[in-house]
Amino acid sequence: MTSLARGPVGGEPQGGARPGDGTGEPDGPGHPALRGLPAVWLRANCPCADCQDPGSGQRLAAITGLPADVTVAGVLASDAAVEVIFGPDGHRAVFAADWLARYGDSGDPPSQGGEAGTGPGPGLPDDDRTEDAKCLWAAADLGGGIPQGWWPRYLADPEHRSACLSAVLTHGLVVLHEVPCEPGAVLAVARSLGYVRETNYGRLFDVRAEPSAANLAFTRLPIAPHTDNPYRDPVPTIQLLHCLHAAAAGGGDSTFTDGFHAAAVLRGRDPAAFTCLTTTPVTFAYSDAATVLRATGPMIGLDPRGRIRQVRLNGRSLAPVRLPAAGARTFYAAYRAFAELAADPEALVTTTLAPGDCVIFDNTRILHGRTAFADGGGPGGASTGRRHLQGCYADLDGLASTVAVLARGQAGRAGREDQDERAGQAGS
Ligand code: FE2
Repeated sequence: MTSLARGPVGGEPQGGARPGDGTGEPDGPGHPALRGLPAVWLRANCPCADCQDPGSGQRLAAITGLPADVTVAGVLASDAAVEVIFGPDGHRAVFAADWLARYGDSGDPPSQGGEAGTGPGPGLPDDDRTEDAKCLWAAADLGGGIPQGWWPRYLADPEHRSACLSAVLTHGLVVLHEVPCEPGAVLAVARSLGYVRETNYGRLFDVRAEPSAANLAFTRLPIAPHTDNPYRDPVPTIQLLHCLHAAAAGGGDSTFTDGFHAAAVLRGRDPAAFTCLTTTPVTFAYSDAATVLRATGPMIGLDPRGRIRQVRLNGRSLAPVRLPAAGARTFYAAYRAFAELAADPEALVTTTLAPGDCVIFDNTRILHGRTAFADGGGPGGASTGRRHLQGCYADLDGLASTVAVLARGQAGRAGREDQDERAGQAGS
């Protein structure tokens, strides 16, 4: 069997730690250097070259290929490294001690901070998409404005780019000023953070009043706070809106609400309504001459631990609910309560997008809307004076990847954290 150290390995075995010190029991390794991690966990995450491809970091050993009766037969520990000898086959693994510390018992109380780089140790958040990893906000918490950045600096300065994109992960949105007022510029912004998500609306879509709109977004009507495309599965998780022309005659202001905050307020004020919206699947639907889309899910989606993870709110595309009369009454009351919280002036930030402003937001969390506008442009043309936004979709995992790669560069660690993570996590 081959032992391969990942991370610093060295030093002499600590006093009393020698092969044969293991308990030989699958879930009672006993040695403090193992931090309470059971034999099967240690074996499943063995970083040796037989178990994990050194080049890609991907796991070679399948769970079905491991001994079902694996035990810890011995432990050799130094400050930097922990060598484990497994029974019944004598396989050896060498772990960096700080890597084990990330996943095992620390002796400290569980953190709720959601810091980047923490793994799924006991009590730690392991899903950066849930409310535990976010900064929930009402309007007053933002000091009157949404997080902002500047496109030229965003392009030139990786730290500024990282700060802007990190705001999308923590607060759900950022506005970039000084994006060139050119058709299609929104696609360049999307490409700077990930990949454009093409839909039936195209690679980008124009948001402006049109004579025969297939979607109320393309009219001058007010639009209540909503998430986009809940009739799509998977839903686009990032949306961008780039202002090319503001409304000439006023109105058309943009509104943004933290849907996670609204859902959390509902949970506190009316737990029964919150439970109704987390447990009642509803269908959203959209159709036009070329498209028929339907998707079903609860308005407030929770993770398996009961934390808010996704909101879906869009009155324009909610299909008739299929519920008994009493259930329908309960559902619509809960839906109304959530929609009222989403539109509460204390929750919602109103901003006037100027030409060149591009908002990037988390479409699983941020509810966006607009006020009505009376426009000066003539029908059919994109002439000066018409409110005209261009939008497109992208994905949150791509944005998170961009932030992580930027952080790698800033730390100058050449991907050490990623490599460390991969010692225990195989991708595909
Ligand atoms: Fe929208």
